[in-house]
Amino acid sequence: MSQKELYTRISSLNGEVCVPGDKSISHRAVMFGSIAQGKTKVHHFLPGEDCLSTISCFKQMGVSIKRQDDYVEIEGNGFSGLIEPTEVLDVGNSGTTTRLMLGILAGVPFHTSLIGDESIAKRPMGRVTVPLQSMGAKIDGRESGQFTPLSIRGGALRSIRYESPVASAQVKSSILLAGLNAEGTTSVTEPHKSRDHTERMLGAFGVQVHVEDKTVSIAGGQSLKGTEIYVPGDISSAAFFLVAGAIVPDSCITLRNVGLNPTRTGIIDVLRQMNATVEIKNERVVNGEPVGDLIVQTSDLKGIEIGGDLIPRLIDEIPIIALLATQANGKTVIKDAEELKVKETNRIDTVASELKKLGANIITTDDGMIIEGKVTLTGATVDSHGDHRIGMMLAIAACIATSRTLLERADAINVSYPTFFTDLESLLN
Ligand code: S3P
Repeated sequence: MSQKELYTRISSLNGEVCVPGDKSISHRAVMFGSIAQGKTKVHHFLPGEDCLSTISCFKQMGVSIKRQDDYVEIEGNGFSGLIEPTEVLDVGNSGTTTRLMLGILAGVPFHTSLIGDESIAKRPMGRVTVPLQSMGAKIDGRESGQFTPLSIRGGALRSIRYESPVASAQVKSSILLAGLNAEGTTSVTEPHKSRDHTERMLGAFGVQVHVEDKTVSIAGGQSLKGTEIYVPGDISSAAFFLVAGAIVPDSCITLRNVGLNPTRTGIIDVLRQMNATVEIKNERVVNGEPVGDLIVQTSDLKGIEIGGDLIPRLIDEIPIIALLATQANGKTVIKDAEELKVKETNRIDTVASELKKLGANIITTDDGMIIEGKVTLTGATVDSHGDHRIGMMLAIAACIATSRTLLERADAINVSYPTFFTDLESLLN
């Protein structure tokens, strides 16, 4: 268990950061490259622990995946190139690896066992195993396939029209990937639109995907062709520096090459609604994904209400938004966010318990939290609870704390942002 002394009482943060590759897009690039025919080259791949779990699982299924200095090269041979692994696949801490890979495994005629860490064992897998079973996949596991360890035997599938009770890109993607091996057309309808990287990237691999409002459909029998993918910077990683720039005094931070997919930019909407100065420059489209540079400055903030359709567009940013709200004048209400309870930790509880240790005024609710600002944060010993985003949020909180702050289980940050502290240090003057 690692403990780290954090930077505290920072007088200003200035400069530029080029945040690492997007986690969601990096996972998909490796998975789709592994089931495509031919070579796929992935530039600016995120070498975080989660994405490395995806690489190692597909290597165990016989796919040649080579990591070079600045890209990853995958030699796919279609779905039929995957071979039955001789050992259990370890998904580590990664929900995306588990759920998307189950969708792929549902369509291949062999047996696989999956296991992950302590946090994965608590995350609901029934949301994908139930629809995949109804397509014909044979899945078993703890509590009848609700939790890991899981085992799956795939094969010929039938298509379904699935009404998902949750807005989840992992659920949507898993079913669509299974749909590639199903007879007929498979569709998924969500209550709110979730991130659409799967739909966009399948297009880049030559697959036709039909999108109509909150319903996505895919015809079975289509194959993927290897391609070249440029992964944009992860807006969920940039979010920590967007908030740092807004709350640390005398700061101005530029974040280069950040993915600006509209299903992910809720954090920019929230910062602006709270009165923060955020500029977008150099907007362009790369591989069907919008990208740009973001410039943020220290701002006088006000509390707001966050809920509804906005939630899936910022679900991973709620821990850092909670910190932002402690520095806004007035009340911030976060609602409709019960999904936070089934992330790497129960993020309603871990955000509130850790920020309270620093002096924040937070009340938890059934579907979110109420935060009263503006509060001066003081130093304390805090804990990531093994959750990367809680760890990084606390590291930014420490920057404005008035005394020494120690972070327990700081190494959790390597899951999505191994160079986080180097990038933070580069902004100190
Ligand atoms: C992800 C989808 C989201 C998100 C997760 C990554 C993805 O999860 O929280 O970090 O890559 O599809 P849900 O699909 O469970 O909302």
